[in-house]
Amino acid sequence: MSEPVPVVEMTNISISFPGVKALDQVSFRMFPGEVHSLMGENGAGKSTLIKALTGVYSVDSGIMTLSGSRVAFTGPAQAQEFGISTVYQEVNLLTNLSVGENIMLGREPRRFGLIDWRATRIRAAELLTRLHLDIDPNSLLGSHSLAIQQLVAIARAIDVQAKVLILDEPTSSLDADEVAELFRVIRSLKDEGVAILFVSHFLDQVYEIADRLTVLRNGSLVGEYLTDEILRIDLVQKMIGKELTLLDDLEKKTHDSTSGDDGETPFLQAIGLGKKGAIEPIDLKVYEGEVVGMAGLLGSGRTELARIISGIDRPDSGSLSINGKPGRLRTPRAALSRGVAYSSENRKAEGVVEELTVRDNIALALQADRGWFRRIPKRRQDELTASYIQALGIRPPNPDALVKNLSGGNQQKVLLARWLAIAPRLLILDEPTRGIDVGAKAEIQKLVVNLAENGMSVIFISAELEEVLRLSHRIVIMRDRTMVADIQNDDISVESLLAIIADGSILEDAS
Ligand SMILES: Nc1ncnc2c1ncn2[C@@H]1O[C@H](COP(=O)(O)OP(=O)(O)OP(=O)(O)O)[C@@H](O)[C@H]1O
Ligand SMILES: [Mg+2]
Repeated sequence: MSEPVPVVEMTNISISFPGVKALDQVSFRMFPGEVHSLMGENGAGKSTLIKALTGVYSVDSGIMTLSGSRVAFTGPAQAQEFGISTVYQEVNLLTNLSVGENIMLGREPRRFGLIDWRATRIRAAELLTRLHLDIDPNSLLGSHSLAIQQLVAIARAIDVQAKVLILDEPTSSLDADEVAELFRVIRSLKDEGVAILFVSHFLDQVYEIADRLTVLRNGSLVGEYLTDEILRIDLVQKMIGKELTLLDDLEKKTHDSTSGDDGETPFLQAIGLGKKGAIEPIDLKVYEGEVVGMAGLLGSGRTELARIISGIDRPDSGSLSINGKPGRLRTPRAALSRGVAYSSENRKAEGVVEELTVRDNIALALQADRGWFRRIPKRRQDELTASYIQALGIRPPNPDALVKNLSGGNQQKVLLARWLAIAPRLLILDEPTRGIDVGAKAEIQKLVVNLAENGMSVIFISAELEEVLRLSHRIVIMRDRTMVADIQNDDISVESLLAIIADGSILEDAS
C-alpha cells in the first residue's frame, strides 16, 4: 500500500528565540482532505509551528516540502502563493466595509486599471456560495455577529486556491450553534480536498472534527495519532507529560448564605439595574465568598451587565449597592476603590500591554489603585510576580519577559494575575480561561474556588457550561439581554442549563 503524498511535510524544524527553544526538531505532516489538530499546552509551540508553515518566521534548521516539492519561504506572500491560507484568532477585517469588499480587499478584479466593482461582487458571492453561506455580500460586515465575521474571514482566506487552511483557535469566542456552522464549512472544504489545520483547547471539538492529531510539548514532538485511536485521557497525558488529577480535586464547599434567609447583607445588590439597548432591568445579589456563574449565548448581555456593574458603562435605570451602601460606580476607578474589579474578555484591546514586561503587567492594576505617585516597592513587585508566575504556571517563568513574546494562553494568565493581585472584594471574570490549556484551566479554577473560600466574591462569565457548573454556587442565565434564571447550582446538568439558555422552558424543573 502506498500512502498518498502529504500536502505539507515538515521535517526536523527548529526555531529559537533568545532564551527559548520554541521548536526543537519537530516533524509534522498533513494529507489532502484531512482535518488535523495541533495539540499542546500553552507555550508548547503550536503558533510558532504555524508561523513557520506560513512563512512568518524563518526556520533555524529543518526541511519543508509541499506536495512533494521542497520550499523555503522568505515571507507570508510566498506561502500564500503555494495555497496556504491562515485565519488568525483575532479577525482582522474592516467592519465599516461590506462583506464582499472584505472578502476581496486588496485583490479586487480590475478593468482598465480600475476596480471592477461588478466583478468584485460576483466573485465574493461565488466564494460565499462555495461555503454554502447565505450572507448578502452587500451587507455591512459590522452588522454581523463575530461568528459570521469569522466565516467571512475564511471565505477571504480560501480565495487563493487554498490547499491548506489554518485556523488557530477559531472557536474560542463562538457559541455552540456558531461552532456547528463553522464545522459545516470545515467539512465542505475537507470534501474538496483542502487540508485543514485546527488548533483548539476544547477537547470536545477536537474529537468531533479532527481526523488526526499531532501533540507538541515544550517545543518537542510527542507524536502523531489518529483521533479514533487515542483516548482523551491518554491525549491529555501526552500533552501535559503527566496524569491530570486536578479536575477531581475541585470540591467546593457549599455556600449556605446564598438564599439570604439569614439576613446577611449581600456584598453586591442590584435592583432594576438596566441600560437601554444593552440590558433590560435586572435584580442581582452576590454574597461574600460566593461564586456566581453567568451563562448565556454570546450577545445575551453577559458582558454588558459586567461592564455596568464595574463602572465602565453607566446604567440608565435602577440602583446598585455595595456592602449595603447605595451608590453608583461611575468609573472603573470608583468601582475599584470600593473593591469591584473587572477582567475583560477582550485581552487584546482592554487587556495586556504587549510592550511591557510580565512584572509591569501584573503590577498595573495594583499601581493604578494606589495612585501613580506611590510606586509599589520593587521588592513587593518581585514577590507578587513570582507568586503568580508560580500559581498560574506562567511560561517562560521570567518576570522580565515582554508580554508580546508570550504565547496566547500565557498572556491570558498574566491578565488574570493582574486582577488577582489587587485582591478585590468582588472580581468579575469575563471568559478568564479562553485559550488556556486543560492543565492550567484546572489550576485557575482551583484558585478561584480558594479565593472564594477566603471571602472573595466572584462573578464568573464563561461560554463553557461544564466550567460554570464546576465552579459556581449559583448560576445566573442571560438570554436576549434579560436575566432569565437565577438558580442554586445543585445537581444541574449541562443539558438543563442549555435548555434554559435556549428557551427557558424547564426553568421550574431545574431550580
Ligand atoms: N517572538 C517571540 N519572541 C520570544 N519568544 C517567543 C516568541 N514567540 C513565541 N515565543 C515563545 O515560544 C514558545 C512557544 O510559543 P507559541 O506561541 O508557539 O505557543 P502555543 O503552543 O501557540 O501556546 P498557546 O496555546 O498559549 O497559544 C513560548 O515559550 C513563547 O514564549
Ligand atoms: Mg498559540
